[in-house]
Order: sequence, then structure tokens, then C-alpha cells
Amino acid sequence: MTKLSQVDFLVMGAGVAGLRAAVELARHGDVLVVTKESVAESNTHYAQGGIAVAMEGDEDVALHLEDTVNAGDGIVYRPAAEALVSEGPLRVAELIEWGASFDREGDTGAGELLRTREGAHSLPRILHANGDATGAEISRSLAAFAHVHKRIRFAEWTMVTGLVVADGRVIAADLASAGPLAGDPKPHRINTRSVLIAAGGAGQVYSDTTNPAVATGDGIALAAQAGAELADMEFYQFHPTALSLPGVPRFLISEALRGEGAYLRNDRGERFMERYHPLLELAPRDVVARAIAREGMGATPDSVSGSPSADSRVVHLDMRHLRNLNIRDRFPGISAFLAQHGLDLARDLIPVRPAAHYLMGGIKTDLDGRTSLPGLYAAGEAACTGVHGANRLASNSLLEGLVFGARAAQSMLADSLPLVPADAPAADHKPLSVNEEALVEDLIANLQASMWAYAGLLRQESTLREGLAAQEACGASLAKLAEQGKSSRRLAEAQAMSRVAHAILHSALARTESRGAHFRNDFPKRDDAQFLKHSIFARGGEAQVLFEAW
Ligand code: SIN
Repeated sequence: MTKLSQVDFLVMGAGVAGLRAAVELARHGDVLVVTKESVAESNTHYAQGGIAVAMEGDEDVALHLEDTVNAGDGIVYRPAAEALVSEGPLRVAELIEWGASFDREGDTGAGELLRTREGAHSLPRILHANGDATGAEISRSLAAFAHVHKRIRFAEWTMVTGLVVADGRVIAADLASAGPLAGDPKPHRINTRSVLIAAGGAGQVYSDTTNPAVATGDGIALAAQAGAELADMEFYQFHPTALSLPGVPRFLISEALRGEGAYLRNDRGERFMERYHPLLELAPRDVVARAIAREGMGATPDSVSGSPSADSRVVHLDMRHLRNLNIRDRFPGISAFLAQHGLDLARDLIPVRPAAHYLMGGIKTDLDGRTSLPGLYAAGEAACTGVHGANRLASNSLLEGLVFGARAAQSMLADSLPLVPADAPAADHKPLSVNEEALVEDLIANLQASMWAYAGLLRQESTLREGLAAQEACGASLAKLAEQGKSSRRLAEAQAMSRVAHAILHSALARTESRGAHFRNDFPKRDDAQFLKHSIFARGGEAQVLFEAW
């Protein structure tokens, strides 16, 4: 773990937003990128389908804007979407110049960029790399570019355990070792001009998620704890098609399969999407996810509450009719994973069900990454600019990381906050006993299961209240350990998940309508008269939800 006592800029997270920001910041100062595991382990790394970008001029950009706004179900903050789609082409061109290699026509590597289509896109505009490993290529190329920069240092296997606020401004952060062989568990305080949270999402809050184990919402929880406002926390996107095999992780089966023509079939073999949306399998993601949940549970919309479970009726993805597509070349990573479980996309029906995938909400920021707390900035999935509204358009998230990572870095540079040394060192911590670590694991598993059951795809007041009671009990047990000065990586992650769950549950209870990814069985309609607004959690430290129009 680094023992630097000060750095100009501290970036939490080494996904696309954090790395893009670090490159920008390093033009004018020293940067420390802190990441809980290795640089390669981020949500970015696991993104399969691609990066949506309108590279064909103004008309293309205008269409990308409309698709983004339409997917967001009435509450996309239009200036944020305009920034995303209009600055996106420049950011992607820059990335290509820095070494990212996207798939092209022909074998020479010099042909036209290949573009695919995904749900709710009006035309094919999604670039991909190595077939279905787009995030890994973006992560690899940005990390390689950042690593040679002398002003960027990396602190891998390191956690940010606290933000230090003085006179209403973030002035320092506490870092602790997060590695399996953590040598020195004592946290150490680092002074900094400003902190960027780009630590990704919080899929681990749910028992069923496509996200890696590191996605525990640490950055969002730290910001909230330090007093920053959160926004739109009720909007959690459930990816329609994660693999559904007993005992196998909820591996993402990319939407790009449906972009290439895959069908969805219920347990009677019917292509059921025609009953739900004219765009069939390429309907917006929230519509497809709910349709699968309903078909899978064999229920009518009104009788369903909760989220589909492993013993739900099986829904399948079907690519068997796509005889002209070389499926294994187009989707090498997915094909290889399925092969380990005896499945072949060209031959077999693939069992799928939804899983938590992407948080549209997060730390509330302006268009330039500024949070409500001076000295603290946020970008990427951890942030909420309003760009996705109630439902993110497929493959807009890698672009979001590039565009808003760069914008946040530019405002950190422009704000040019001075270094103010913190006047106390970080507090010491005691390690947890083996039994206490086991208790933390149990608390996490219970929280995840209750969030899936009570605050998943289909919600209602009674289940959300049950979820809140479970979360509050979990939070109280975790607080007891923390009050004794105990600390460990898993305790910190559990506290983060519990805080994020708290914000999701309160926000979901307050939005008494259905919109985008947030569906309430007890309020199944969109209510534009009341809710053409964004939710704000914990303004002024109050655990209450306010709504405001942006
Ligand atoms: C996918 O490949 O289906 C995921 C892409 C995304 O989440 O935008």
C-alpha cells in the first residue's frame, strides 16, 4: 500500500471513468489511482457488448440522443445526454489513437469499424472489441496508456475507508490495505486537493448480479457518509439475460446476441416478446427484463411480486436459426464460458433470467462531475448526472465513463482547490475475529437475498418495507462492530452495501409510480403529473427523499 502523505488528485476506481480522468489530471498534477484489487478488476473489464457511439456526423448524433432520451422514460437530463452523444465520438477517436483496437471489417485491421445493434437503438452504432470483450480492451488500452505516464501512480489492493471533510470540503482520504495478505491493516491518511469517485456500481447489493465481487458500492456509500447527495437511487437496471444454471455464476449473456438476431422463448417454446413490445427482443432493457420475469414466473403482471428465482420456469435465448453467423467467432468469450457448462450457442437453447446490472442513480453531480460536497467529484456508474434517466440505453455506459471521466477531471483542474493538510492522522482499527468475519458474511448474504426478493424487478410497498426492516437490522449489527473500532475489508464492503441498499429502498418507496427500471405493482403506471423528476436522497443529511425537476 502506498504511504504517500499527499497527492494533487486522488482517483478512487480504475475503470474507464477513473483511468480517463487520471490521464487528463496528470497533465497538470500528480495523480494516485486507488483500486481495491488489480487495475484489471473493474465493471469496465467485464463489459461485453460494446460502446455506443455516433461516429457518422450530426444526424447520427441526433439519433443517438433521441434513443438515449427515449430509453430513459421521460427523465433523462437532456444537457447530460447531449454532452454524452456529442463528445462521445471525440473521446472514442482519442481512445483508438491511444491504442484501443475495435473490431473491423476484413482481416487487415484497417477496414471499417464493425457496428452492431442492441435494444432500443434505432440503428447499429455499437463498436465492439475481440467479439464480446469490449470492456477488457478499453480497460487494457487505457491502463497501458496511463501506466507509462510518470505523474500517475497506482495503489492496487487498497481501499478508501473514509473521506476527511474540514470546513465543508473534502481535504483528505483514509486508505487501508485490501489485499488477501494485508500486511499492515492500519489506515493511513493522504491529503489531496480533490477526490474523484469513479468506483463503479453496486450490483453486489443483490444476490443475483452480473457484476464482479468488487462492485459493492463503496464509493457511493463513502460519498453519502461524507454528506454528499445521492440521486435516482431507485433506478437499478436488471439485465434481461444472465445465464441461469444452478450453481453457476450469473454470467452475462450480452444483449449483442439479440442484436445479431437471437430470440427469447418461454418454456412452451413461444417467442413471447411480441406480447410485450413492438421491438420484440430489442425492446428497451427494462421491458425485456420484466417480460422474462413474468414469463419465467408464469404469472400475470398483477399477480407478480418479488423477483424471479432459480426455480422459476425457464426462459431461453435461441440462436439456432442464425446459420449465416459464425457465432463462435463473433462471441468467443461467451461461447467459451458456455462450453465449460456443456452448452453451444449454435446448437442449444441457453437458459437465462434477469440479474442486477447497472445503477442509473448514484452520487448526484452536475455536468462536470461536481458533487454537492466541495472537493468531491464523481464520474461513471458511481455518479448520477441524469444522463440515463430511469433506464440506461444499452452500451452507453463505457461512453459515459470516457466522456464524464474527462469532464470531471477538467473541472477538478479548473477549480484548482489548494492542499489543506488534515490535522489528525487516521484512527487505528482492530481486526475482526474469525467468528465476526463469518457473521459479516452471513449479514451480507441476508441483505443480498432480501434486496433481490423485496427490491428487485417488481416492487410494492409491503415488500419494500420488509426489505427496509431487513436492511436496518443488518445495518445495526454492522454498526455494533464498527463502534468497537473493528475493521476489515468485508466489514467495510458490508457497510457500503447496507448504506446503498438503504438509499435504494427509501427512494423506491418514495417513487409511487412505475418508470423505466423501477416497477411498482401497487402503482403500475407512469405518473408524469407528480414524477417527471429526479429523486434526491439525504439532502442536508436527512434520510428522506425529495423530488426535483432538472
Ligand atoms: C451487454 O453486453 O449486454 C451489456 C452492455 C451494457 O450493459 O450496456
